This record gives sequence, structure tokens and C-alpha cells, in this order.
Amino acid sequence: MKKNFVGLLGCCVLLGSTGVNADPEEDRLKLISHFKVAYPEIKPGEYIYGSLAFDPDAKLKYDIVMQSPPHADELGKGEQLWKKPLKSGRTYAECLPDAGKNIVGNYPLFDEAQGKVVTLEDAINACRVANGELAYAYADPQTIGLLTAYLRTLSDGGKMNIKVASAAARAAYEDGKKSFYSRVGQLNFSCANCHVDNAGNRMRSKLLSAAIGQSTHWPIFRGGKQWVTLQKQYEICHRNMLQVSDKPGSRRYNNLEYFHSFISNGLPLQSSVVRE
Ligand code: HEC
Repeated sequence: MKKNFVGLLGCCVLLGSTGVNADPEEDRLKLISHFKVAYPEIKPGEYIYGSLAFDPDAKLKYDIVMQSPPHADELGKGEQLWKKPLKSGRTYAECLPDAGKNIVGNYPLFDEAQGKVVTLEDAINACRVANGELAYAYADPQTIGLLTAYLRTLSDGGKMNIKVASAAARAAYEDGKKSFYSRVGQLNFSCANCHVDNAGNRMRSKLLSAAIGQSTHWPIFRGGKQWVTLQKQYEICHRNMLQVSDKPGSRRYNNLEYFHSFISNGLPLQSSVVRE
């Protein structure tokens, strides 16, 4: 199953087949069939395990680690943050929809009134500001990382369920899609070059994960010590592409997250996974 990393400068399979005007659902289905053809033995649901989907031995080790996860204490701290009343006396549960239960799969969502994409982190920060607190730094592992790690556990068993329901939402989706497929940086790579065309191949020592399933489990607990949020990971990948990254929380990254999450629609959510 494992292959060597093939030339990244080769043509990008999906860009050709996924036209700018394709329907979002069509984009998603095309990606799924791309991976079905490339890796017939892997079911779409297995891509939520990232690069582990391509490496059964590493997946086995991961399953053992997850039986007593190294970040159990961290989730306890996240729960305390979640329950601590804000300055107004209200809690996050009183501020977010459905007391924060089973909501994670709906984010990011397109807020029609604000005319922009709102991520889970944005929703938490909006609660904070509306209740007399300062917003957290967008990708800070110790605050919003910890809090979203806990919040995600309240959506266990749920599925990704992103909606693109208006022309304005569609424009945000298309902008995110463009970021995903555009070649940038000194290396002239796009996200799709690595995570679609070369998913399952090795880059240096690392197996490249598939784009579908990539957004179902954030933040991750990296290296046994640190939470990494999804947009922090975008920043890391952009830097690896020798591209000046956007700031986590920027409109561009929010739109990218909107597209990137939509293509995982229907896949099961996972809370707080560990990664090397
Ligand atoms: C030059 C290749 C390369 C490019 C281009 C690239 N990445 Fe990555 N990315 C990696 C590597 C290597 C990893 C770590 C191994 C893995 O999980 O795929 C990674 C990991 C990730 C992960 C974490 C997967 C997980 O579940 O742990 C996400 C999400 C991600 N990349 C998204 C993106 C996005 C979005 C872009 C475009 C902005 C992008 N990447 C561009 C190489 C790349």
C-alpha cells in the first residue's frame, strides 16, 4: 500500500476534474471516488485516522495508546474551563446553542447575518466578549485548545454536517476551495498536491494523510505535550510549503476550514486524538 513520494510537480488530478462551478456535494463525492480508486481497500470512514489509515501497524499502536490517553488530565482541565462562569455570571453552556452538546459537527458555519464563516473558536470567543471577557488568542493551545478539546467530547457519536445554503455561503466555500487547490509558496505546492494527489505516499519519513477526514478531530494532542488547533496546523503546513502563512482566525483560513470541513461531511467526529 505504501508508495514512495512521487513528484509533487506532477499534475494535480483533482483540480482538473473539480471545476470551479461544481456543486459542493459534487466536490465531496469526487474526492471520495478519487480515494476509492486510489485505495480501494480503505473505507472513507477510515480516513478520520489521518495517515494511520495507510499504516495498519501504526494504527494498532495508536489504538493501544488511546486506551489510556496521555491527555486525560488535560481534558479535566478543559472541563474546568468550560464550567467556570464568565464575568457576567453566565457559562459557555448558556451561551452556545444546545448547551454545547452535539454542535461541533455544525462548525464552521456560515452566519448569514454577519455574512461570514464562524468557526467553533469564533463562537467561543463571541460568547466570551458578550459576557464581559476578552477573546482568547485564536489558536492558543492552553486556553481555546484546552476548551475546544473538552467541548468536542460533548459531540462524541456525531457526524460532520456542514451546510452551504446561500449564495454568500457558496462564495466563502469557493474561496476556501481556491485556497486548497492553489499552488503557493517557494515550493509551488497546493494542499491538494500533498493531501489528495500524494495522500498515502511518504514525504521524507512522514506518510501523507488524505484530505477527507482531516477536519473531524481537532484539536489534536501532539507529541504527548501540546494541543494543536486545526488552523494552527494550516499555518504549519503553509510554513512547510515555504509560504508566508495567514494568521489563524483570518477570513482566508476560516473559508479554507469551511471547504475543508464540508468535504468530510457524513464522517464520524472524534474527540481529542493523539498524533506524533
Ligand atoms: C508539502 C506537503 C504538504 C502540503 C503542501 C500541505 N501539507 Fe498538510 N501535512 C503535511 C504533512 C507531512 C503532515 C503530517 C502527516 C500527515 O498527517 O499528513 C500534514 C498534516 C496535515 C494535517 C493534519 C492531519 C491529522 O489528522 O493529523 C492537516 C489537517 C493538514 N496537513 C492540512 C493541510 C492543508 C489545509 C494544507 C494547505 C494549506 C496543507 N496541509 C498543505 C504535508 C503537507
